[in-house]
Amino acid sequence: MYKIMIKTGQKHYPVYLGKGIMESVGSVVSRHLSARPVLIVCDKNVSSLYAKKCLESLRREGFKPHLEILEGGERGKTLEAAANLYTRALELGLDRHSAVIALGGGVTGDLVGFFAATYLRGLPFVQVPTTLLAMVDSSVGGKVAVNHPLGKNLIGAFHQPALVISDIHTLETLPPREFNAGWAELIKYGVVCSKKLFKRLELLNNNLSRGRLGKGFKVIGAHKLMNLIIRAVSIKGAIVCRDEKEENLRRVLNFGHTFGHALEAATHYGHYLHGEAVAGGMIMATELALRLKQIDEPSGRRIKALLENIERPPTPGGLTVEAVAGALSYDKKRKKEELVFVLPCRLGKAVFCKNPSFHLVEKVIEEFLPGKHS
Ligand SMILES: NC(=O)c1ccc[n+]([C@@H]2O[C@H](COP(=O)([O-])OP(=O)(O)OC[C@H]3O[C@@H](n4cnc5c(N)ncnc54)[C@H](O)[C@@H]3O)[C@@H](O)[C@H]2O)c1
Repeated sequence: MYKIMIKTGQKHYPVYLGKGIMESVGSVVSRHLSARPVLIVCDKNVSSLYAKKCLESLRREGFKPHLEILEGGERGKTLEAAANLYTRALELGLDRHSAVIALGGGVTGDLVGFFAATYLRGLPFVQVPTTLLAMVDSSVGGKVAVNHPLGKNLIGAFHQPALVISDIHTLETLPPREFNAGWAELIKYGVVCSKKLFKRLELLNNNLSRGRLGKGFKVIGAHKLMNLIIRAVSIKGAIVCRDEKEENLRRVLNFGHTFGHALEAATHYGHYLHGEAVAGGMIMATELALRLKQIDEPSGRRIKALLENIERPPTPGGLTVEAVAGALSYDKKRKKEELVFVLPCRLGKAVFCKNPSFHLVEKVIEEFLPGKHS
């Protein structure tokens, strides 16, 4: 089992990574939290695959685990779902000596983390991520949130987990589309933080034909995958350690998110998976960097080529430049007229770009949406 320590002002905690370690969740948790009532929360899919193993493992170590199953999906990451968890926790009599385990992807982790941050002013929580996206990104760093009808992740907190346990073998059951979405976040680290990681991903990409990436676990292999995840978590850990509250440096991890969130909003959060929208956002941000001459042509083309190999669902026919640009403008108003893009400036490095020409931004969106070229 591999261990990476995340050191923030709020807390120091370990991220454990290994192959087949779901069966050891109980013993790993018991090293950090004494035997106590525990609420495991997961969605329906994850419940049928991993809840039993997790429950049994905790029981073996003297914990008293309860299971709560969520409907799942981005649309279920709401205050209402958090309120249902408060009710369930109160009914079970959970107090500050209890703990909660988020078993699943980023939706479960964000929602359960938000619940843990607010129930009785804060419970310890454990992240047991089972998607690639959650392993490389959302389970580490303590950003927890639910969505509001007016936007994603608008109600949230910083609440670091007590520990993270990533069993790489759970990725074996991950649907290809979900694997691809997580791969996009992995590429993000390469583009903005590590040229070495970028080149590793590029090499892998060149050996894979389009469409095979989604079969990731089998094609790439558990060992290589684990090394890539370790690299991503180490990068995120180093960033979070220097800027826990996203005041400065951590914002580079929002590469692709300004355009990506606009794509998600313009399609009502129902068309793209989060990672797919971010992949589209990173393509547009790279194109913007190219047009603004922030990055040299060959590097920009290499980044775009790597991102374009990630399969995305076809752009909805009715999606217009105006709709995506409109979602960006709404974001701008919310952020007091400041629209900030993270742009790659060379492989492994990014810069912030405030309020570029909106006309240019619209041109970039136009190029991205097929059939919308003038
Ligand atoms: N907090 C952060 O720092 C942060 C960072 C990035 C993304 N996010 C959030 O993460 C969310 C997206 O996370 P996600 O892509 O993991 O989505 P998700 O939690 O919805 O999981 C994706 C799907 O995969 C299924 N699944 C999960 N693990 C599985 C497995 N091992 N085998 C088979 N099926 C499995 C789930 O049931 C779900 O249907 C978004 O809400 C996004 O805002 C948060």
